[in-house]
Amino acid sequence: MATALLQRRLIFVTGKGGVGKSTVAMALAQVAARRGKRTVVADMNGAGEQHERQLAPDLFTLSIDPQRAMEEYLTVKVGGTAGQILGQSRIFSAFAMATPGMRELLSLGKVWELAQTRRRTPGADPYDLTIVDAPASGHGAALLRTPRTFAEIAKVGPIAGQASTIAATLNDRDFTAIVVVAIPEDLAVTETLELDEALQRERLNIDAVVLNQRHPDRFDEGDLTALRLLAAAPAARLAVDAEIRARLEAEQAARLEQHFGERLQSLPYLFKPELGAEELELLGRELDL
Ligand SMILES: Nc1ncnc2c1ncn2[C@@H]1O[C@H](COP(=O)(O)OP(=O)(O)O)[C@@H](O)[C@H]1O
Ligand SMILES: [Mg+2]
Repeated sequence: MATALLQRRLIFVTGKGGVGKSTVAMALAQVAARRGKRTVVADMNGAGEQHERQLAPDLFTLSIDPQRAMEEYLTVKVGGTAGQILGQSRIFSAFAMATPGMRELLSLGKVWELAQTRRRTPGADPYDLTIVDAPASGHGAALLRTPRTFAEIAKVGPIAGQASTIAATLNDRDFTAIVVVAIPEDLAVTETLELDEALQRERLNIDAVVLNQRHPDRFDEGDLTALRLLAAAPAARLAVDAEIRARLEAEQAARLEQHFGERLQSLPYLFKPELGAEELELLGRELDL
């Protein structure tokens, strides 16, 4: 039996762009916080500040900034002023940031730091759970592959050491979970299946697929026949369209179900112009965590 999602210390949420990664990350975080877990959502897509901000009791957010992550890392590792000078040195920084994968490695280093029971950042309180609002699928796979690549290429030295520690953490299924969000559309489902393949090559496992934005399926065959007879009436037309959509969605859900089985969960489409704390709570309650 796999460790329950919210029992882990680190959860990555990825998926195709716009499918609801941030929404699901926040919904998960709200559930965890309500259960008394000190939770932080680390956004890897935003250009916000890498500064821990409290949203609610036990609920925090921050935006990961590779440059800041490097400065912090050097300050802790190299020590005080020397580290700060290195971190702020334009040449050093330009060199580091130009190394392929270095931004990803530094960002993951910060995520790793947030998830530790004993934080490396002086004076920082530990979190029980770190939820990463990760980059979209393709970049997400590349991101998760980065530490192993660095560990293999660098072999020895502080970078190899740090990278293999992070890689081991990502592969530890009691510690880290990967959640993929999809919507019931052909492209998003295909991308989810491809992502699973890419992650499996890295010996990484998708723990849950959240099929977001499912529309209700209200009618059976008999209803549909009756509705078609009424097709001249606009309301009946809308109902038929909705039913066709629901069936197309069911086909896409079946593709995911076949592959992921019990790991698949669904969330309803909420007919709201914007999703606030209340809607996130509703979505969170729908999830089996
Ligand atoms: N279940 C849902 N019902 C209705 N709207 C949703 C749902 N999930 C997400 N949305 C909306 O879809 C848009 C994209 O969601 P977001 O979480 O920002 O996606 P991503 O982070 O993957 O780009 C947002 O406007 C969000 O409010
Ligand atoms: Mg987002």
